[in-house]
Amino acid sequence: MSLKRVQVELGDRAYGVLIGSGAVGELSSLLPERATRVLVVTQAGIPFDVLPLLGSRNVRRHEIGAGESAKSIDTVMSILDALGEMGATRNDVIVSVGGGLVTDVAGFAASLWHRGIGVVHVATSLLAMVDAAIGGKTGINTRHGKNLVGSFWQPRAVICDTDALASLPASEIRGGRGEMAKYHFLTGDDLLALGIDELVARCVQIKAEIVEQDEREGGRRALLNYGHTLGHAIERESNFAVSHGEAVAIGLVFAAKLARRMGRIDSSRVEYHERVVRDHYGLSIDLPKALSHDRLVVLMQGDKKALNGLTFILDGPRGCEVVNGVDEALVREVLAESEVR
Ligand SMILES: NC(=O)c1ccc[n+]([C@@H]2O[C@H](COP(=O)([O-])OP(=O)(O)OC[C@H]3O[C@@H](n4cnc5c(N)ncnc54)[C@H](O)[C@@H]3O)[C@@H](O)[C@H]2O)c1
Ligand SMILES: [Zn+2]
Repeated sequence: MSLKRVQVELGDRAYGVLIGSGAVGELSSLLPERATRVLVVTQAGIPFDVLPLLGSRNVRRHEIGAGESAKSIDTVMSILDALGEMGATRNDVIVSVGGGLVTDVAGFAASLWHRGIGVVHVATSLLAMVDAAIGGKTGINTRHGKNLVGSFWQPRAVICDTDALASLPASEIRGGRGEMAKYHFLTGDDLLALGIDELVARCVQIKAEIVEQDEREGGRRALLNYGHTLGHAIERESNFAVSHGEAVAIGLVFAAKLARRMGRIDSSRVEYHERVVRDHYGLSIDLPKALSHDRLVVLMQGDKKALNGLTFILDGPRGCEVVNGVDEALVREVLAESEVR
């Protein structure tokens, strides 16, 4: 068994991410020594049992619901109640086992109990491995929007055991691949030849480097939203029929076409985007015809990164960067060009 390890260098909050088949076997050694109680937060459908790995500690398993409606303050309260019932102190620890929903909610609860206890994430979805579990953003939804309430709370360690992917539904694999595709464009490296463990490790490393430079998203961390301006709009305008990752995939190729029209990149770089997203990850790159361009533009203008009209992350001679005030007429032309013919 050869595991890969990526260190997230954040001073006294630094931590390691262990990646590879069988990585969960290291869980016990990654828990804080003083922790005698462990609350395992997971979901019913996740066939990954960590309880036998936790030795003689006082361990309790707590299931939360699935779907974005479970990403709520009620779910957080249920976790805090479970901690209370087991008498958890500030030395104890939460182990989250699941996709991004579980790691976001469990991480948030960990940041609140005794004003913050340790959390170790065992990421079981591809998206959680390459994105959600890394970097310390936690949160829940309110009726006013997604991820509106949360905290920055770095985990003590993250485990990405790629064996977990065997049971992940195909639609969730596609979603994770859309998010993974974006990493190909955030560095100059060609990641196409890497096997799954190497690829997850490289994505984690790219995210770690960005988080190290900008933990609280004052600047560079926004690059992780590459493909997301149109992606979020497609997700919402399709009523979530197009999943987040699949929408990001379309958004990535759209952003490349827009960048070419603005003279920032050439056609070969657009073709590289198409090759990665469509050919390598097998994702659709065409904008579904049923979506109203007027509505997409309105949604993109409301994007949280949009300080000034239409804002995109665009590739260019200096790599990807945030570009404000993009011409609406040009955006509409590229939307028309991106539709399925
Ligand atoms: N904190 C961050 O930086 C960050 C980044 C990206 C996304 N997110 C959040 O992550 C969430 C999405 O995460 P997700 O895509 O992992 O979705 P998810 O956590 O909802 O998981 C999707 C489904 O897959 C199931 N599942 C997970 N692992 C499984 C496995 N190994 N086998 C079988 N089923 C499994 C889950 O039970 C769930 O039903 C969103 O809430 C999003 O806001 C957070
Ligand atoms: Zn995303």
